[in-house]
Amino acid sequence: MVLLTSSTVSAILTSGIICISTILLFLTGYALQQQSVRNIQHALRPPSTTPIAHQEHSNLARNVHSGQEVLPELSLDRDKASYPGARGNYAYLQLLSDPDPSNICSAIAFFKTLATNSTIAQDRLFMYPQDWDLAPPSSISTPVSTALSLLRAASTKYGIWLLPIDMTKATSAGYTVTDTKVLRLGQIQFMQYDGVLYVQTPGLLLDTEKLDSMLFSHSLPLRHDKSRPDSYNNEAWIPMPLRPDRDATLPPVYLVTVNNVGSQIEARGHIPNVSLPGFGDLVTGPWGVHEKKGHKSSPGYVYFEKDKDGYVQWAGNPLFGAWRAKQYDVCDGLDLDDTYE
Ligand SMILES: *[C@@H]1O[C@H](CO)[C@@H](O)[C@H](O)[C@H]1NC(C)=O
Ligand SMILES: *[C@@H]1O[C@H](CO)[C@@H](O)[C@H](O)[C@H]1NC(C)=O
Repeated sequence: MVLLTSSTVSAILTSGIICISTILLFLTGYALQQQSVRNIQHALRPPSTTPIAHQEHSNLARNVHSGQEVLPELSLDRDKASYPGARGNYAYLQLLSDPDPSNICSAIAFFKTLATNSTIAQDRLFMYPQDWDLAPPSSISTPVSTALSLLRAASTKYGIWLLPIDMTKATSAGYTVTDTKVLRLGQIQFMQYDGVLYVQTPGLLLDTEKLDSMLFSHSLPLRHDKSRPDSYNNEAWIPMPLRPDRDATLPPVYLVTVNNVGSQIEARGHIPNVSLPGFGDLVTGPWGVHEKKGHKSSPGYVYFEKDKDGYVQWAGNPLFGAWRAKQYDVCDGLDLDDTYE
């Protein structure tokens, strides 16, 4: 047996503590470095990178298993050249500020149809408050956590970029999280796009080609350019600034174009000119479906209205059954007719 003096013991303890601190410091530094590597990778993302590789940076997507079924490189066969505005980088956006399982399934179904029906727009974006990723599992209900894990799996399968938005700037100032606030804080992520088209959830995609033509059939405002009147006086897209202080919800169809002037990023919002023949009825509410006769064609995307309790209206909605079927197709195992808190 070796007898230790108290000074030896304290020396051993001290060096032990120093060792542990050093290891902790190293680990912290390593984690920080990995974080910034990821941020840099994100910032440097070339426009045409496949979504799957990019999802690294999203918390929701982090536990997606590799080796899952991935769609082959989506074909852009449909003649892009026939659309003058199609050269560039475009995305469809669905956005939720509240993790409602039915709405999450509606968004998944939307993205699945886009992916399997070869949209011309390269990217599919889903934007949501980062809190959804950070909430401890015990604090969310089973339907919500099921819907979120279905969303994670779908992000790989259908090439959805998950964009978790840090809302602390709004919540720490006492504001509630609304759709418009999520977009305001999140639109910085649109830097690499020429245009991002938001369509309201819940809704049903009826015709991918028609929805695409909303983005590509008319010249888009794109970046502000004095020599191009279309950029500020556009017949198809009417400027509509985002007003998160006044409005909680977004217009049901909302086009964001991004100006990237030096280090400054300016996003401009637009709504479609519904008086433009054949344009305003590409995306409508359920009423657009009734007018099938004669010259009026059926819409590409139909967004649904909600009653005062936040439930999608059955009455006067001829697409409700078809929509439910699409939801169950992507959210097997959830009871969507149940009511959620
Ligand atoms: C998807 O493609 C199929 C086959 O081309 C077509 O019948 C269907 O209408 C399309 N659906 C949408 C939503 O575009
Ligand atoms: C909207 O479209 C109509 C019909 O083409 C046109 O007369 C009107 O000027 C357009 N509105 C704007 C703001 O461009």
